[in-house]
Order: sequence, then structure tokens, then C-alpha cells
Amino acid sequence: MTSAATVHLRPDAEAVLSVRDLVVKFPVGRRRHVHAVSGVSFDLLPGETLGILGESGCGKSTAGRAAMQLPPPTAGSVRLAGTELTGLTGRELRRARRPMQMILQDPVSSLNPRRTVADLVAEGAVLWGPPPGRERIEQVLSSLGLDPAVVWHRRPHELSGGQCQRVCLARALLLEPRVLICDEPVSSLDVSVQAQILNLLESAKDEHGLSMVFIAHDLAVVNSVSDRIMVMYLGKVCEVVPSGRMTSAAHPYTRLLLESVPDTPGTGGADPDGGTGTAPGSTELPSPLDPPSGCRFRTRCPWATELCARDEPPLRTIGTGHHVACHHVAVDGDDPARPAA
Ligand SMILES: Nc1ncnc2c1ncn2[C@@H]1O[C@H](COP(=O)(O)OP(=O)(O)O)[C@@H](O)[C@H]1O
Ligand code: SF4
Ligand SMILES: [Mg+2]
Repeated sequence: MTSAATVHLRPDAEAVLSVRDLVVKFPVGRRRHVHAVSGVSFDLLPGETLGILGESGCGKSTAGRAAMQLPPPTAGSVRLAGTELTGLTGRELRRARRPMQMILQDPVSSLNPRRTVADLVAEGAVLWGPPPGRERIEQVLSSLGLDPAVVWHRRPHELSGGQCQRVCLARALLLEPRVLICDEPVSSLDVSVQAQILNLLESAKDEHGLSMVFIAHDLAVVNSVSDRIMVMYLGKVCEVVPSGRMTSAAHPYTRLLLESVPDTPGTGGADPDGGTGTAPGSTELPSPLDPPSGCRFRTRCPWATELCARDEPPLRTIGTGHHVACHHVAVDGDDPARPAA
């Protein structure tokens, strides 16, 4: 069954990826669970980049990995190009998942240190059939700004972080995916290299007709690459907003992210935490072992009321493509009864 909080979703037939009511719980001890992702739904249209933004620990990576079935979610549905991935296992799953690839935050440790660049780039494709020809590998490496003659026999420790991320990207692109999930792809890189990798992702997206899920805790980075931004807080979606309209974000948490670092053009803010992925403001993220009742943001929200403790706010539409989960944000013709701040 689909939850009420789906006003931000487009028809399944239009989406290349449809994630519905995703739940991921990690068992802790005999009876307790980390509620890492609690009923998250999103979709992705062909050619679109969806940013997923939120502070460290809010469930961004878990949501991305659960879409990949790494590991499969506790509950929910993931349809990739019309095929339901949940419930599939083994070779069947690997085949159905092939159109979706993922690149990670730490490119160096996601590469086998003993293998050469040529082997690393080819290894994903080799699982599926004849090894890709040298010319094809050289072409992909060159398109990503790596000189095949220089890097061909190199191993990861002989490359920079930015070069390793290019190798990871080459390996993913060789599989000709339709969807690329990028989990904090530039967070571990020097600032000077970040823009290069972001530009490469942008051109790879155009060239290969990709759709992207771009996960990051850095608002400025997410805003620069995304068409829409989905803001998460403690395992739930609190706002979905077109990236050009970040300054009109309405959820108190998104406002906090925007205000925490002023003077970023186009956003009114930047990295919510100065780069560490920790909480904006002074208070800690509540424990995902025992999340607050009602609205999960209420323990840090300046507007919180009894209603917020009692009822979970559904996502409601407040503008074209703009959806907010807050009892006290006005919807047209609606009296939100926002308490005095
Ligand atoms: N394998 C795991 N076992 C137990 N808890 C986990 C595991 N992976 C993630 N978590 C917890 O789930 C929550 C969400 O984590 P994560 O998805 O990594 O957040 P983010 O990517 O937004 O920083 C965190 O509380 C984290 O500690
Ligand atoms: S529902 Fe209540 S606690 Fe949650 S963000 Fe809105 S005002 Fe704050
Ligand atoms: Mg993460």
C-alpha cells in the first residue's frame, strides 16, 4: 500500500526509477532497530538529476544502497525501468540491476588495490560477457580526462583521489547504465578537484543520456548539479523543491540548512556544517534507535506544537514541484496556524 506522502511523485510509466515506501531497519541487539530510512518515496525521470540532501546520519546512503538492493530494504518497492528489483536474488538481481550503477564517496577504497586501471575499468563488464575491447576502454578513459597511455598499468595507490573517482566513473559508464547513483562523489576530494568531477558527471550525463541520484550533505554542491532536491531528516523526506527555488524552501529544517552558512549565490547558504556532515544549529540529531513521535524534526524545531508531537505531517504541495511535510507551513487557502516564533 502506498502512503499518503506521495504528492511529489510522477506516474510510474514516466519514471526510469520509482522508489516507493522504502523502509530500512538495522537490528541492534535482540529487540531494537536503527530506523535508518522510514517510508521514503522518490522517482527519477529520464535525464533528470535528483539531489538528496541532509546531514550525516539522516539515511541518504542507506536509501541509495537500498535502491541498489545493497542490502535489500526491509520493506518497499524499487522499480527500475519497469522491473521490480525487490525479491530478486543472485544472477537475476544482478542482471535486472545492471542499468543502475553507483559511485561512492571514497573512490580509493572502492577499487581493488592490486588491479591495474585497465582491469578495474573492464571488471564490471567482464561479468556480463566478452571483455570490452582495448579501444572501448581507452575511449571511456579519454572521455573522462585520463590519458590511457599514462594510467593503463597504474594501480589505485599510484593515482590521485580525483583520478580514482574517474576510474570508478569509467567502470560504471562502460556498463551503459540508465541511472547513476552518486553517493557523496566529491566529498573526499580537494575543493579544486571537486568542480572538475562535477563537470565530468554533467557531461557524462548528457553524453550517455543518464538520470542521476546525487547524494550529498553539501547544499551548494547538491544545488549546483540537481534539477530537484529532496531533503531528508532522520530517515524521512521533509521537503522536495526544484533546485532553482531553494531560496523559497519552506520547511524549518531546510531553512536552517540555508541559513547556517550565508552568502552562497543561488542558495542563500552552503554546506550546512562546514564540511563534516554534522548537525546545523547546536543540537544533536536524535537517536534513530528511538525517533521522536509525530514529526521527527520537532525536537529541534522552533515552531513545534502538540500537533507536531502527535501526528506525522504528510507531504503537501505548496507550489509547482514544491512539496513540504510540515503542519505549520501554509498551503494556498489554508490556515496553518503557525505558532509565533
Ligand atoms: N549497517 C548498518 N548497521 C547499523 N546501522 C547502520 C548501518 N548503516 C547505517 N546505519 C545507521 O543508519 C543511519 C543512516 O545512516 P546513513 O544512511 O549512512 O546516513 P547518511 O548517508 O545520511 O550519512 C545512521 O544512524 C547510521 O548509523
Ligand atoms: S511539523 Fe511541526 S515540528 Fe515538524 S517541522 Fe513543522 S512545525 Fe516543526
Ligand atoms: Mg552517507
